[in-house]
Amino acid sequence: MGKEIPKHIGIIMDGNGRWAKKRFLPRVLGHRKGAEALDKLLKDADGMGIEHITVYAFSTENWKRAEDEVSGLMNLMREYIQDYIDDNENSRLKIDSVGDLTVLDQDIQDNIKLLKEISKDKPGINLHIAINYGGRDEIRRAFADIANEVKEGRIKPEEITEELISDHLDTAGVPDPELIIRTSGEYRLSNFLPWQSAYSEFYFTDKLWPDFTIDDLKTAISAYQNRDRRFGGRNEGK
Ligand code: FPP
Repeated sequence: MGKEIPKHIGIIMDGNGRWAKKRFLPRVLGHRKGAEALDKLLKDADGMGIEHITVYAFSTENWKRAEDEVSGLMNLMREYIQDYIDDNENSRLKIDSVGDLTVLDQDIQDNIKLLKEISKDKPGINLHIAINYGGRDEIRRAFADIANEVKEGRIKPEEITEELISDHLDTAGVPDPELIIRTSGEYRLSNFLPWQSAYSEFYFTDKLWPDFTIDDLKTAISAYQNRDRRFGGRNEGK
């Protein structure tokens, strides 16, 4: 049984809307509370041994939401990134993004690039923020890049290995998540890291994301540590 701390945890931060609705508040306020919960969690998780956390902040499907919610989420992201830039001196996080940033407002793209640059030597957790991220879109973009390299003669079709595909994804160089957490009682992957999660353990909780704390994270990690990960093989001695 794996008693080790997962090196990479993926989090689907679901339930912000319901959290707000229960309090008769606008949905965007639920997202704001969600961003605060994330901030607190990252501080509390520092030093536990988790190396990477990928959070699903905005999916390629989220554009279908009402215009005020989309702009509210974008503004929240803008503010969140700016806060980390302003407070970089006091932060221990290395921050970057996954997803197709090219359609986002230029200032957000520029600030994500800046934040990545100024935080790259920080000693703490690598936070990967999934923005305009969709797993199928990520795989499609990787296919297009690989096809171009084949066309230009830089690689041969028979050289396309699983590793080569992984290296063309947004998560290139990041180990696959051992654990994926989804809050709010939903049991779906929703296009989050479909390639990378082939062997991930899943942990679901009814807690709404703004209520998720370090204790919940520890409970999720304990559940993971009690699972028997076999990767399709069998565990010797079992
Ligand atoms: C799902 O809740 C959550 C989102 C679509 C957005 C998640 C964003 C944040 C937690 C804040 C922004 C994060 C960063 C890094 C700045 P939902 O709206 O689907 O909730 P519901 O299912 O209850 O309606």
